[in-house]
Parts: sequence; structure tokens; C-alpha cells
Amino acid sequence: MIVTLTPNTATDHTLFIPQWEAGKTVRATASLWSMGGKATDASYILGELGLPSLALGFAAGSTGDRVRAMMESKGVTVDFTAVGGESRVNTIIIDAATGAQTTITTNTLEITPAQVEALTHRLVAVLEDADCLILGGTLPPGLAPGQFAAWIDLARDYGVPVIFDASGPYLRAGIVARPTYIKPNRDELGELLGRPIHTLDDALQGGREVLDRYGTAPIISLGSEGGLAVLPDKAYRVPPLPIEVVSAAGAGDGVLAGLAASVFRRQPIEDGLRLGFACAAAVCLMPGTAECKREDVERLQSQITLETL
Ligand SMILES: Nc1ncnc2c1ncn2[C@@H]1O[C@H](COP(=O)(O)OP(=O)(O)OP(=O)(O)O)[C@@H](O)[C@H]1O
Ligand SMILES: [Mg+2]
Repeated sequence: MIVTLTPNTATDHTLFIPQWEAGKTVRATASLWSMGGKATDASYILGELGLPSLALGFAAGSTGDRVRAMMESKGVTVDFTAVGGESRVNTIIIDAATGAQTTITTNTLEITPAQVEALTHRLVAVLEDADCLILGGTLPPGLAPGQFAAWIDLARDYGVPVIFDASGPYLRAGIVARPTYIKPNRDELGELLGRPIHTLDDALQGGREVLDRYGTAPIISLGSEGGLAVLPDKAYRVPPLPIEVVSAAGAGDGVLAGLAASVFRRQPIEDGLRLGFACAAAVCLMPGTAECKREDVERLQSQITLETL
């Protein structure tokens, strides 16, 4: 079983606008609601692929209900821990004039120490039967930065491989627990290393440093430049596919889903990379966060190549 854990559940509200004008009424040409929250995105994508997963996390209010219903519509088993406040709404603005994608995020969950303990108990209860844990996003107010590391430690105690996707302070605090894989994008890798990542070579060197320092294999996503997988005994470049991008939101989470699928199926990591980057490209073709079509994933998977570095 694949388990996903999302401490800060969310939905994304995407607005497509012709052009941003500060202080004016901007009329959206389209708007839609979709998944958010990283690990939940991965569950959602796995569901589209017909792969079952169990989604844990904190959720509250009508937004939490919406997240649960969306997940269940994809066949995901949802066992959220009910908390106070409201699951988050992230607003994503896609500006046709510049192509820029801007995210405005909120932080609206309210969590007590007893609820943290309750979620941790649920995790421990399922780790025995878990093949893989996907964990990530941000932590809601009230949780210590070390919480990700505590959950990763638990999974490692049970011998469960961990795919961890977070940024900034959350990535720094979690990586010390040595997750099996992380999936930083260019900015996230740069922030972790404390220097900007400009070229593919910068990313490769940075990835090797992460592997040496933490024993964690970074699968680095570089947006329109594709990706890089830095593994203990080899490294691959994954060139981008020539696609017409509608919205890249949640593309990185497609990579998480593909990696988890290969761990679950006991396949080589190469299969996970092909599936993951095909999911990422398929997500780019759809306007909603983490939305993709299984037939697109299957069509694109054969087009993904891995170049040995
Ligand atoms: N413009 C693009 N053209 C082609 N492929 C793209 C493009 N944008 C993203 N991709 C594919 O999707 C993968 C993941 O994208 P990206 O690096 O933007 O992830 P991310 O920043 O983690 O996104 P998110 O956190 O929203 O899921 C890339 O490695 C690439 O394979
Ligand atoms: Mg990401």
C-alpha cells in the first residue's frame, strides 16, 4: 500500500487572467477548483492511474470536505484527522500576457498537540503494511519544524521508503532524517544548498552534494528544462517533452506519484522516473493542479528518455 501524509491539506483555486493590473478589476477568462497540498496531489494522480493509496493528514471545514470528496472520486482511501480551523485555499493566478504563474497561499488550520499525536498514531498503525510513504508540503501553525523528521524517522524504523517533497525550512528540517528520495525543484535545491542553481551542471553538482551529505537521492525537477535524477550509483538527465503547457501546477507531484508507483510495484527506479516525468508532462496539459488523464500519461511515458550522465 502507498501511504501519503499531508499535514497542510488544501485546494487550489486557479484563475486564468488576460493580464494583471494592480488596483483594477481583473476579469478572469476561466476559473476552476482542484487538488492542492502535495502528498494529496500524488494520491490524486495515483488514483487517476488506477493505483490505490491511503491519504492521511489534517483536514477541517468545508474545504477539508471538498478535498476528501475529490480524493474519494479517484478511489483514494481517505483517513484524515479532523482538526480546527479550515483546510487551506491556495489561489493560483495564470497571467496570459506574461505566462507567469503566481500562487497566493493561506494558513488556516488549527491543530493541538493531541491531534498531532492522533495523526502520528494513525501513521504508525499503517506503516507495518506500507510499501512507501509520500510526505510533504508545509506544516500548519503549531507544528514544530522537526515534525517532518519525526514522521520520516518512524517510517524508516519500519523500513518503509520515504519520498519527501518540501521547500525552505521544511526541507532543511526534514532532510536530516535521511528520506529515501526528495524532489526539489530548482529554487528548492538552491535554497537547500545556499547558492543559486543556474545550469544543469550546477544541479548535478548540487544533487551529488545532497546525496553525499544526507544519503538521500534527489530527483530534481527543472520545469521546462526537464529533470535530473542523482542516484547512489548513477545519474540521469530526463529531457523535457515538447508540450503545450496549460498549467504546470502540481507537475512536480506527478513525479512523486510515478516514483511511488515503481516502489510499490517493486520495479526499477528507471520505470518510476519514466512514469513520474510522464505524469508531470500530462499534468502540464491540464488547467487544474495535479489534474491529468491516464491516456496522456500512457502515451507520454514511451516518449520519456533517460540520458545517463
Ligand atoms: N514548461 C514545461 N515544459 C515541459 N515540461 C515541463 C514544463 N514545466 C514542467 N515540466 C515537467 O514537469 C516536471 C515538474 O515541473 P516543475 O519543475 O515545475 O515542478 P515543481 O516546481 O515541483 O511543481 P509543483 O510544486 O507545482 O508540483 C519538470 O521536471 C518537467 O519534466
Ligand atoms: Mg514541487
